[in-house]
Amino acid sequence: MPNAKDTPAAPRHVAIIMDGNGRWAQSRGKPRLYGHHAGAKRVREVVEACPDLGVKYLTIFAFSTENWKRTQAEVSGLMKLFRRYLTKEAQSLFKNGVRVRFIGDRIKLDDTLVRMMDELELLTADNTKVHLTIALNYGGRDEVARATKRLAREVAQGHIDPETVDAETLARFLDTYVLPDPDLVIRTSGEARISNFLLWQSAYAEYEFVDTLWPDFTADEFGRVVHSFAGRKRRFGAVPG
Ligand code: IPE
Ligand code: IPE
Ligand code: MG
Repeated sequence: MPNAKDTPAAPRHVAIIMDGNGRWAQSRGKPRLYGHHAGAKRVREVVEACPDLGVKYLTIFAFSTENWKRTQAEVSGLMKLFRRYLTKEAQSLFKNGVRVRFIGDRIKLDDTLVRMMDELELLTADNTKVHLTIALNYGGRDEVARATKRLAREVAQGHIDPETVDAETLARFLDTYVLPDPDLVIRTSGEARISNFLLWQSAYAEYEFVDTLWPDFTADEFGRVVHSFAGRKRRFGAVPG
């Protein structure tokens, strides 16, 4: 007999690798940044679809620690887009009850952008309808390394006994310490890899790879992918009873 615990109705936390902006633009004979702008416009409808789908936490990959390898023009265009996006979307996120958080290393981001990120986190701190986390200059390995550094400091200062360190201890030092682990990770654009996204947290996530390029990913398609999750059997290493 199916156990209710094995077939959850909706994923509580969905994480998305929003990929394919560049190819979307190139296929139209446009510069890559045109695709990034089109991609940014898609975010709102996906966020707004969450409450009805029962998705409480949404985490989106906006810029990876490896994306600095792109041309200076693309990187600075993306940074400008992030600043514009935060300015433009702040009020609607606030009014829609979205609590915004950022994960990733802020040290390499420019001061204006970091200030906007702090302000948006503060503005939306009391919202509870949807928890939107934006991964900006985020890399899973970098996050674990930064967490380890902070943990090592605590050990060196005598606050933590190294013998007590386990997976839970380390998890408390991750950028995501207040978030549940993702239940479902979606990647658009047909690539079947995780590209350094939420490595630690996705240990038992379900994955869904879709061919659609991110600027074409609609709320309808998001809904279909989320619904398909309900049919999956998760075992977490145990033998189903
Ligand atoms: C994802 O789209 C957005 C970012 C990485 C910032 P891409 O820019 O990677 O698009 P493709 O993969 O080149 O098509
Ligand atoms: C992952 O996409 C990063 C984001 C979506 C922000 P990439 O396009 O950077 O990943 P690779 O290079 O194809 O693995
Ligand atoms: Mg890509």
